[in-house]
Amino acid sequence: MPNEMSDAFVFFGATGDLAYKQIFPSLERLIHDEGFSLPIIGVAKAGWNLDQLKARAKDSLEHNKVFDQAAFDKLSSLLRYVDGDYADTATFTELRKQLGKAQRPLHYLAVPPSLFGVVARGLAESGCATNARIVVEKPFGHDLATAQELNRTLHQFFPEENIYRIDHYLGKEPVQNILYTRFANPIIEPTWNREYVRSIQITMAESFGVQDRGSFYDQTGALRDVVQNHMLQVLGNLTMDPPTGEGHEAERDQKAALLKAVRPVSPEHVVRGQYNGYKSVPGVAPGSTVETFIAIKLFIDSWRWAGVPIYIRAGKEMPVTCMQAFVEFKRPPMETFHELVPPRSSHVRFRVSPDITIGLGVRVKVPGERMVGEDVEMVLKSHPASDMPPYERLLGDAMRGNGELFAREDLVEAQWRVVQPILDNVTPVYSYEPGTWGPDESQELIGSDGPWIDPTAAKESQ
Ligand code: BG6
Repeated sequence: MPNEMSDAFVFFGATGDLAYKQIFPSLERLIHDEGFSLPIIGVAKAGWNLDQLKARAKDSLEHNKVFDQAAFDKLSSLLRYVDGDYADTATFTELRKQLGKAQRPLHYLAVPPSLFGVVARGLAESGCATNARIVVEKPFGHDLATAQELNRTLHQFFPEENIYRIDHYLGKEPVQNILYTRFANPIIEPTWNREYVRSIQITMAESFGVQDRGSFYDQTGALRDVVQNHMLQVLGNLTMDPPTGEGHEAERDQKAALLKAVRPVSPEHVVRGQYNGYKSVPGVAPGSTVETFIAIKLFIDSWRWAGVPIYIRAGKEMPVTCMQAFVEFKRPPMETFHELVPPRSSHVRFRVSPDITIGLGVRVKVPGERMVGEDVEMVLKSHPASDMPPYERLLGDAMRGNGELFAREDLVEAQWRVVQPILDNVTPVYSYEPGTWGPDESQELIGSDGPWIDPTAAKESQ
C-alpha cells in the first residue's frame, strides 16, 4: 500500500500538549486547505467524553489563531473519542469498533516513548495495525542503545516502511530550500567541498529559557533536544550528495550516507553551558548538570568534506531567536590588487528563522581610484515565514504514504552514533548569563576558525 491514502487518523495522547499545540491546528488546516475528510479518532486516558475533546479542539484552534468556523464544524463532525488505558485490551477493541470500515488507519503516537511499545502491541493484537501507518514523535531514544531497542520494538508490529519518525525541522520550508537551492543551481555545487569551503557554522539560538518544560528538559538537555535531531538534519541537507534515482528513498539514502560519515564527536570538541537561573525552574533537579547551551566541532570523513571544520551551537536564553547555517568560502589564494581579502568575504547564508533568507556574501570594489573592496551580502530570497507549518506538511505526507521527510531507522541511529561519546556528563558544564552567547569557552573551541557569527548581523545589499 505504499502510496495509498490513509483512511482514518488516530491520535494517542489526544488530551495532551502536543495535540493542543500542533495536531488540532494541523488537522483543521488539512481540512481547510486540502479537503481532508476521514474519521479522526482521539485516544487518551483522561476520563473525558467527545464533547470535552471537541471543546479542547476549539480552544486549541482559537489559542493558535487558526480558528475557522467551517473547518471546525467539519473537524467536529469527523472527531471521535476513545477513553481508556493503553495497557487495557478493551481500549483497542473500542478503537477497532470506532474505526468502522477503515482499512488503512494512521496512528499518531503523541505519547512518551516509554509507551510506544505498549500502544504498538495493543494496536497489533486488536487488528488495528494491519495495513496501518504509525507516526512517532521525538525524542526517539535516549542514546544509541535505547533508539535501537525502540526500533526493534516497533519492528515487531510495523514494517519500517510504515513507521514515520517525526523531526519537525524536516517539514520546514527553509530547511527544504537548503537542499533545493544547492541542487537547482549549478554554480553552487562545484564549490561545495573542501577545495573551496573553509568552515561551516550552524547556530540555533533561542532568547527564551526552558519555560514550563523543566522536568522534560532536565532529562534531555540541548544536545538531545535539538542537536542530535534538528541540527544534524540541517547539516545533512547542507552537506549531503545529490539524490540519485527516483522514489522517496533517494533523498534519505544520501542523507544516511552523509550522517554515517560524520565522525563521532570527541569530548575535547564540546563546550556545554547552563544559564544562571536554570536550576530554579520547576522540575529541574537542584544540582542539575544538564546543558542549556552546547557548542561542538565536528568533521565529515568523506572526500567532499575531509578536513573542513564544522561548528554547531545551540542554546536557550541567548541574545536572539534565530537559526542559520553559514558556509564560509576560502579566501583568494593571493593578494588581490595589493589587498588581502578578509576572511568571510564570500559565503552562503541560509537563515531558517525567524525570517527565511538565502544570502550570498561577496567582495566588490569600493567606487574610486583605489582597487580596494568591501563586503556585501546579496539577499537571494527573504520572506517573513513559511505558509505551510511543518506539522501540516508532515501529517499530510504521512497520510499519503510519503516518508521522504521522516527520519528512517538508519538515519536516527547514525545521528545517535555521532553524539554518543559526548552524552551526559563526560564534559564539564559552565554557567553563563541569560542574554549572552553562552560560556566564553565556546570562543576557545572555535579558535582561529572563528569568531562565531552573530546570525542577525547580516550586511545586506539588494
Ligand atoms: C523542539 C525542542 O523540538 O524544537 C524545543 O524540544 C525547541 O526545545 C524547538 O525550542 C525549536 O523548534 P522551532 O521550530 O521553534 O525552531
